[in-house]
Amino acid sequence: MRLAGIIGHPVAHSLSPAFQAAAFAACGLDAAYERWDTTAEALAGRVVSLRDPRYLGANVTIPHKEAVIPLLDELGGQSARVGAVNTIVNRDGRLYGFNTDGPGFAAALRNESYFDPAGKRFLLLGAGGAARGIAFALAEAKAATIAIANRTPERAARLAREVAETGAGAQAVSYADPVAGYDCVVNCTSVGMHGTAGEGDLPCDPAAMSPGTLAVDIVYTPEDTPFLRAARTAGCRTLGGLPMLIYQGGLSFELWTGVHAPIEVMFDAARKAIAARDLA
Ligand code: ATR
Repeated sequence: MRLAGIIGHPVAHSLSPAFQAAAFAACGLDAAYERWDTTAEALAGRVVSLRDPRYLGANVTIPHKEAVIPLLDELGGQSARVGAVNTIVNRDGRLYGFNTDGPGFAAALRNESYFDPAGKRFLLLGAGGAARGIAFALAEAKAATIAIANRTPERAARLAREVAETGAGAQAVSYADPVAGYDCVVNCTSVGMHGTAGEGDLPCDPAAMSPGTLAVDIVYTPEDTPFLRAARTAGCRTLGGLPMLIYQGGLSFELWTGVHAPIEVMFDAARKAIAARDLA
């Protein structure tokens, strides 16, 4: 049996074990997916252990997505630019790092909202790790404009500068600037997340967005956030955060196994795990 797992601290609430295990089973793969709660002190040892042939690789989550980079042999995709790795692949004892968060976001847009980022005008709210992955993926997908607003403006300015260096049309904007005139507005902050101080708050005023704008939230607890509800009321189309989570996991699964990810199976397993958690 081969093994994969999630490296983070904490990992008790991660949905990845539920939907990755379901994907292995649905594809008839003799593989298991474990929770590897790992402190900063234990990170290097954990990563070294992945070189063993038993291991397919791992997912990496908070707080280790940046710290894991120097422990790997090679970085693939845009992970070096993003400065964060969420997927480690063990190929014959060599460890390759990837970041599937941004590509998972783009896949969710295309497959769940039938929205091709090419030529579209985006407004990203937030400039943290999630926004970085999304911004570079949108640049790669040839978005026309990537405007970035952040509570701490310096972070938005830095990200916009880095994305513009790839040749994309990126610029920092202010939260006070208009939110109209975009094809897609993405909440890349934790505002609206269940169990946080901002759980009832909105990252911007959806009533001020152009009708027909696609409003996307990366928050997936709750699945229907205040931002998504208000955006629908304002006549916008919406996409929640669960599809991004599933598609980033699907891309990790494909990197480990070379097998096409069973996306519907993964959605079902994640929704069942969320429902079980809500009942607990
Ligand atoms: P992640 O990896 O999930 O993106 P992060 O790197 O900590 O996490 O980034 C969190 C993002 O949410 C940041 O853009 C943060 O803004 P700051 O850079 O100003 O900290 C944003 N954020 C968090 N709480 C917020 C709030 N209450 N209002 C506005 N933005 C908030």
